Amino acid sequence: ADSLRTLAAPIGLRMGTAAVPSELAAYGQIIGDQFSVVTPGNEMKWQLVEPTQGTYDWSGGDNLVAFARAHDQLVRGHTLAWHNQLPTWLTDGVTNGTISNDQLRALLRKHVTDEVTHFRGKIWQWDVANEFFTDSTPSQMNPNDFWVSHLGTGILEDVFRWARAADPHAILCYNDYNIGGEDGSNAKADAVYAWAKQALADRVPLDCIGDQGHLDTQYGFSGTLMQQDLQRYADLGLKVAITEADVRTFVNNATDNVPTDHLAVFAQPFEYDQMLKACLFVRQCISFTIWGLTDASSWIPAVFTGEGYALIYDINLNPKPAYTVMQQDL
Ligand code: XIL
Repeated sequence: ADSLRTLAAPIGLRMGTAAVPSELAAYGQIIGDQFSVVTPGNEMKWQLVEPTQGTYDWSGGDNLVAFARAHDQLVRGHTLAWHNQLPTWLTDGVTNGTISNDQLRALLRKHVTDEVTHFRGKIWQWDVANEFFTDSTPSQMNPNDFWVSHLGTGILEDVFRWARAADPHAILCYNDYNIGGEDGSNAKADAVYAWAKQALADRVPLDCIGDQGHLDTQYGFSGTLMQQDLQRYADLGLKVAITEADVRTFVNNATDNVPTDHLAVFAQPFEYDQMLKACLFVRQCISFTIWGLTDASSWIPAVFTGEGYALIYDINLNPKPAYTVMQQDL
């Protein structure tokens, strides 16, 4: 049967995966065959591009861009303004008071401008800002977020203006998790929707909403709700994308990667199917990206204790039922 990218091409959808350099090296053949858009797992984050103040290292991002070009793929740039994976010189400087809020703002502006300029013309979609909203009900822009607490809520609009000025052609996305009802709640989706609507009224250059799509089989996920949420963003005139899909579950141990609940083996392909259909049923959904390729190197076990089995290839690089289900959807 045909690859995911081949099946998705006629309907104008790009199928994607995230990869770090070791994964590009080890799984390059499958990544090239199956996907038409790639995201660097870490290599475009501030911590990696400017580990020492004033010294840029674009090599990881440049290599991913070169891989994409060689495999006729587009690139999702990830991510410019986020509270995580910041360089320690920056967070330390803020903590010990050597970086004032005015200086912090200037540093963020320089970071956004320099990175978007470096990759200008090579990035299809940028995750300009990532994870600014709280998980509470109701949700709001997090007042304790690193950027918001120092620079105010308006910073979220400014980063989009700076990104647009540096690359007028990239699709600029706000990216977050649980904004398509992934956890069964719609609180964060409501808050992000309200923000996006206001941002557009304020003429902020916001083009797209990226819903990460990190699911866990223990939570109640509704594909119908996700479709409604994606459609609601789209009805504002925005594009939408699923940017980091995975479906985790508890496993016996990280080595065997066998779900403790045998029903998870059925729940997982069903939830991938529902998520992909939510995107397929929304005309403005332009890409569906999975956060990694194989359970052998997913981010899940390191962050969610006892969980795994999240991706569509198993630890031996064989496609799982979730792969087959998505292939049939396309
Ligand atoms: C993860 C990477 O996959 C890990 O390698 C890294 O240690 C931590 O970050 N949401 C995001 C991604 O937007 O950037 C995160 O990626 C996963 C959660």
